[in-house]
Amino acid sequence: MKTSQREIKRSHSILDHSPEEVVTLLKKHELRISILGLGRIGLPTAAVFAEAGARVTGIDIDEEVVRQTNAGISRLTDEPGLDLVVKKNVAEGRLSATLRPETMLHDSDFIVMCVPTPVDLAKSPDYGAIRAVSHSVGKSLTKGSIVIVESTVGPGVVEDIVGSIIESESGMKAGRDFGLASCPERSDPGSIMKNMHSVPRIVGSTDVHCGDLVAALYREGLGVEVVRVSSPKAANAVKLTENLFRDVNIALANEFALLYEKFGIDTVEVINACATKYNFMPHYPGAGVGGPCLPSNSYYLINEGIKLGNIPYLIRLAREVNDRMPDHMVELTAEALNEIGRTVSGARIAVLGIAYKPDVKDIQLSPIERIITRLREMHAVIEVYDPMFAGEEAMGLIVHKTMEDAVRGANCVIVGTAHAEFKKINLASLSRMTARKAAIVDGRGVFVPADAKKAGFAFRGVGRVALSAFRPDTRPTASTSRQA
Ligand SMILES: NC(=O)c1ccc[n+]([C@@H]2O[C@H](COP(=O)([O-])OP(=O)(O)OC[C@H]3O[C@@H](n4cnc5c(N)ncnc54)[C@H](O)[C@@H]3O)[C@@H](O)[C@H]2O)c1
Repeated sequence: MKTSQREIKRSHSILDHSPEEVVTLLKKHELRISILGLGRIGLPTAAVFAEAGARVTGIDIDEEVVRQTNAGISRLTDEPGLDLVVKKNVAEGRLSATLRPETMLHDSDFIVMCVPTPVDLAKSPDYGAIRAVSHSVGKSLTKGSIVIVESTVGPGVVEDIVGSIIESESGMKAGRDFGLASCPERSDPGSIMKNMHSVPRIVGSTDVHCGDLVAALYREGLGVEVVRVSSPKAANAVKLTENLFRDVNIALANEFALLYEKFGIDTVEVINACATKYNFMPHYPGAGVGGPCLPSNSYYLINEGIKLGNIPYLIRLAREVNDRMPDHMVELTAEALNEIGRTVSGARIAVLGIAYKPDVKDIQLSPIERIITRLREMHAVIEVYDPMFAGEEAMGLIVHKTMEDAVRGANCVIVGTAHAEFKKINLASLSRMTARKAAIVDGRGVFVPADAKKAGFAFRGVGRVALSAFRPDTRPTASTSRQA
């Protein structure tokens, strides 16, 4: 059905409209969207919908986030392109932010939840923010609005927690009086603006018409393909399955690494050779898995599985293997220092990279924190450099402004993150900055072991061996260190 812009009779209820009308309203700047949570996911989502023509209000509990957004500033300086889109849409009046949900939620066609869903210290999912915003939404909801959950949650949380809270607060029924859908965010930090316009979105809803409208919004607003699944819980299962697939495969690579180090076999060499077979999907070992997603997403399923009497053993074990990798890095550091006649105690160790993934300013659940803590407990002197945090305080340390400052006189250099800057390191120059006898412990496959040895370093790397001068013809791929 084709609808010209003039034909639409605007209803208060977006559910009364067709998908084509949603597109037209978006283009006419008449679609109203509220985004709850203006963080790594919420701010780009708000900016992109505003850029597509919607009138977007971001709602956050952090005064500084609201102030900066209203000033047209993106604090996510590691998301290329976001700053310009935020600035432009604030200036043109399509994007604003507020601390007060009640002022906007009643006047929204679509309400999108992008609040955090971490795990607590006991590794149980913490749905506190999801519950809080569900209460706010339920109190202010207008009949006919559509609620979309982008936050990563366990299967059933949208129906049983979000839907139930909104129903009891509003007295309305999901699927009849308001729409309820999941459209989990699948972007990669550092590339969010690019991914938002290219990675297909998964949409599951409580009823088909609501799903049609949500699909139209994302197709038109982001310009991406939309894949429909039968329910919100199926959409959430898609998100968890893709992340857990990665976590489990990285754990398998880490297990090979631990084993092959004992055999004196280079795991990266093996994996790169395996990758020449048509059905092998390479994953690489490393210093551990960090970030807001992979280390916690498993627990959403593990927790639900235990409640339902079906423990996902493999997923749980994969977490254990990946969580053990920082300790393995400490073991490798002790070994490498022993090789040059030193102990960890008193050694000057330069840690290059604390972020959980390359070229992103984020240390959430970064495995490097455990490495640093353990080495400090063993009385090492730790110097840190990370280009994303240069000159700032992080993990209880002042991050050096330059790599040279951190590595000068070091007995050991640990690579914690495969930032682009570290991939360009010239080993001969590095050896002139460190102590005369020094070691490298590479947690991210940045160096070729034989090259490090040739430059005079004692070398250890997760799953790496440097027994001979053999130099593989296949260099590790960029994804070697993308353990998040
Ligand atoms: N960061 C990622 O790489 C990524 C990728 C895909 C999915 N996700 C998921 O997206 C969701 C959001 O993650 P994020 O990385 O954007 O988090 P974030 O920590 O960067 O931002 C969350 C924002 O929500 C705000 N907030 C917290 N409680 C609130 C409340 N009650 N009301 C309003 N605002 C509130 C915070 O102040 C913050 O600004 C999570 O479920 C996460 O798992 C994240």
